Amino acid sequence: MVMSPDYNILVIGMGNIGTFLLPGYRQLLGDKVETNVFGVRNNPAKVAELQARMPFKISAGNTAQLLREKHPDVVIVSTPPKIIPDVIENDLKPYFAEAREKGWNLPDIYTFGPTPAPQLYLDNLGDDVRVVKFLPSMAHTKKGVPLEKLGAGFLVFGTPFPKDREERAFELSNMFSQTFAVTQDQSLTGLASKTVTYTNANNACVIADALRDMGIDANINDIASVYRAAFRKHAGLEGEGLYPCSESDLPEKIGCFVKRLSAAWYDGILRYILSTGIPEDLARGFHNGNFEVFALAAQLSTREELDKDTAQRATKGGVTEKSMTTWSTYFKAPLYQAVQDWMNDTLNESFFDSAEGVAYMMDMTVNRHAYRLANK
Ligand SMILES: NC(=O)c1ccc[n+]([C@@H]2O[C@H](COP(=O)([O-])OP(=O)(O)OC[C@H]3O[C@@H](n4cnc5c(N)ncnc54)[C@H](OP(=O)(O)O)[C@@H]3O)[C@@H](O)[C@H]2O)c1
Repeated sequence: MVMSPDYNILVIGMGNIGTFLLPGYRQLLGDKVETNVFGVRNNPAKVAELQARMPFKISAGNTAQLLREKHPDVVIVSTPPKIIPDVIENDLKPYFAEAREKGWNLPDIYTFGPTPAPQLYLDNLGDDVRVVKFLPSMAHTKKGVPLEKLGAGFLVFGTPFPKDREERAFELSNMFSQTFAVTQDQSLTGLASKTVTYTNANNACVIADALRDMGIDANINDIASVYRAAFRKHAGLEGEGLYPCSESDLPEKIGCFVKRLSAAWYDGILRYILSTGIPEDLARGFHNGNFEVFALAAQLSTREELDKDTAQRATKGGVTEKSMTTWSTYFKAPLYQAVQDWMNDTLNESFFDSAEGVAYMMDMTVNRHAYRLANK
């Protein structure tokens, strides 16, 4: 806890992210969470249901009133991206004007939409506003393995923060991610590439399905173990990482396919990241963390758990949804077919080059989509 927990936090947007952050509110405020956090959603009819799950006060449609009553030190903006410009214009702008006039402290703004960029807050609220964008990893502890310690999360500071306030933002981010402070453009590339690494689990599931339909039993967790061991070797990482994995967890023939796919998928994503101009050490830093974590998630989960994780991560119309639909459109069926062709010794070598290209193309597609999220 870097700052004394005697301040209020207002959360505008109590959906997936607003509720997911609960352990972070506890980290910042300790047992003051119940009294010092205020959550706002849009739909009054859904307040009671959420109130039953949350330890602090939930309400709907009263952001302007809560700002004036609570004078929060931190305002979290976690509405869908398209709503954020309205929140800035209708709620924050009048409050910041009044706060300046009356000499109230201006809150730090923690914004969670990939877009708009922090700059939109500065343009509308003034250059002296402290705003930082968060893109948490969304990995979480599985079977005692703290995936969030390695999964990459991004912070984009709109303007420099005083040291203690910067540390508070890192403290919250570090609860959910291995934190990288980056520029707005770098954050969107990082986010897009992360959503493509989510498909490590999809790849493992399709390989298992294709084999099952040929009468070959292969467990998703074993496929993911080989996929991850191969990635670690390919990326030049020492040892087994956070959890044991082995290239010999599958019969040799299937294992060979999985290893080649893992390397192709890793390289395709990395190539796209580098093509945007991100320095190689930064690119490998966050890409290695994400590739490891989302292969390991597949190693540690049941299929049902993997489906649930994807559903929880996917904001409607957002980048995760785009990644999943792009993968389903361009890779699911070809991968299924390739597995069966491989087992029948009829797969053309070029499949792995194409797979690398699909990973690159997916990353590009999702990254471009990220820039459009806040457009009306
Ligand atoms: N999901 C992820 O993995 C993830 C990761 C990083 C960042 N993000 C970003 O975080 C933000 C939230 O995503 P999410 O997945 O949590 O979305 P979500 O589940 O759809 O939640 C959005 C919430 O915003 C509320 N809301 C809408 N308009 C509002 C307004 N004018 N005032 C107050 N509340 C309002 C909604 O209320 P009602 O439910 O009552 O309509 C809902 O509770 C998005 O910008 C997303 O891009 C998401």
